[in-house]
Amino acid sequence: MAAPPPARPEVESLQAYSAPLEGRRGLLRLDFNENTVGPSPKVVEAIRAIPADQYAIYPEYDGLRQAVLAALAAAPGTIAIEQVGLFNGVDAAIHALFQAYGAPGDRLLTTSPTFGYYTPCARMQGMAIEAIPYRLPDFAFPFEEMLAALCGPPSGAAEGWCPPRLLLLCNPNNPTGTRLAPETVLALAAAAPKTLVVVDELYEAFTGDSVLPLLLGAGGHDPEGQKPGIAAATAAGADAAPETAALATAAGADPFAACPNLLVLRSLSKTAGIAGLRIGFAIGAAAVVDRVSRVTGPYDINSFAVTAAFAALADQAYVDAYVAEVLAARQWLVERLVAAGVRHHVDGGNYLLIWPKRPAAEVDQALREAGILVRSMAGKPLIDGSLRVSLGTREQMERFWGAFEICDASPG
Ligand SMILES: Cc1ncc(COP(=O)(O)O)c(C=O)c1O
Repeated sequence: MAAPPPARPEVESLQAYSAPLEGRRGLLRLDFNENTVGPSPKVVEAIRAIPADQYAIYPEYDGLRQAVLAALAAAPGTIAIEQVGLFNGVDAAIHALFQAYGAPGDRLLTTSPTFGYYTPCARMQGMAIEAIPYRLPDFAFPFEEMLAALCGPPSGAAEGWCPPRLLLLCNPNNPTGTRLAPETVLALAAAAPKTLVVVDELYEAFTGDSVLPLLLGAGGHDPEGQKPGIAAATAAGADAAPETAALATAAGADPFAACPNLLVLRSLSKTAGIAGLRIGFAIGAAAVVDRVSRVTGPYDINSFAVTAAFAALADQAYVDAYVAEVLAARQWLVERLVAAGVRHHVDGGNYLLIWPKRPAAEVDQALREAGILVRSMAGKPLIDGSLRVSLGTREQMERFWGAFEICDASPG
């Protein structure tokens, strides 16, 4: 029998990126860091109000970029609409940026362990991957190693050395929660002008550590009420990273003028509760957004996602209340973990890592039988043997904790 024609060699050697996504309905889903309660009622209302004849029409995106900017509280005239790209989820933005920038033999620099979709995207482009491990015991960001990998050997030491084509930074990092000061991201971008530095801020709402307020010279938000203020942080950060002080933008100026190699990713999946509708954003220099958008289809984002996004972006209060609820529930759960002496690691994001006393696979399975899904980190560097548990409401965390205590108790 004749064999079908082979795909590109990079694709033939690739495994499909498949997350275990089936059969999750009806269970307590603490496995994908989704919003655990669903979107704002205003989003549901807006979706229900879509007339059926709109299903027959290709989607329209007018006004959506402006709505993104309004939600970012960007003063008019600072971030321009050409600096906002719309994608079918941040996954699609990641895929597109690799397609636009990653050529065979180019290098992706990232951290390990981190979000699992960067690596297959690099592989399908035929890129080489350098993943620098977080530092144990606390999964601290490996700043010096990263800087060395970005900037290369001292001048003249290695002929033919090329800077990495792409640097992918997940802040806070999924799954370790490692937080990166925005000043550090800007310092890395300033140190490597030939590298496209992508900061994946999917979970930024849970930490407030975004580069955008810094670029806009604005105050930023502080969900945990711990920061002395972005302006003060900038001043403090100037010691550690003198280059970044110059990057603070005067009001009204192009925020990406000083860092045209920086691209910021944001999504409505994890906080606004519309992961199923798929919409995400890339914010950066207009030329970069343009290149990344060139490799997507003209109607990749569907009309339901567009309508939901308008409603979600207009209801920031809903997101703020959800984030506050998750942070309070995290505090409650961490107190239980500490009191019970369960090894865990908690930092930024709506998730934490737990090392059960019993084998993780058995606890994972027992929790599943109790109707609760968590994500096994089996095989992941540094965190093998742990479970990543997404954080939801206090009630959901109480249910998780009750089940976990039973599942992790030694059998017999
Ligand atoms: C770090 C990170 N980036 C991107 C994504 C994908 O987000 P989206 O739902 O917008 O495609 C995820 C989803 O889990 C994630 O954890």
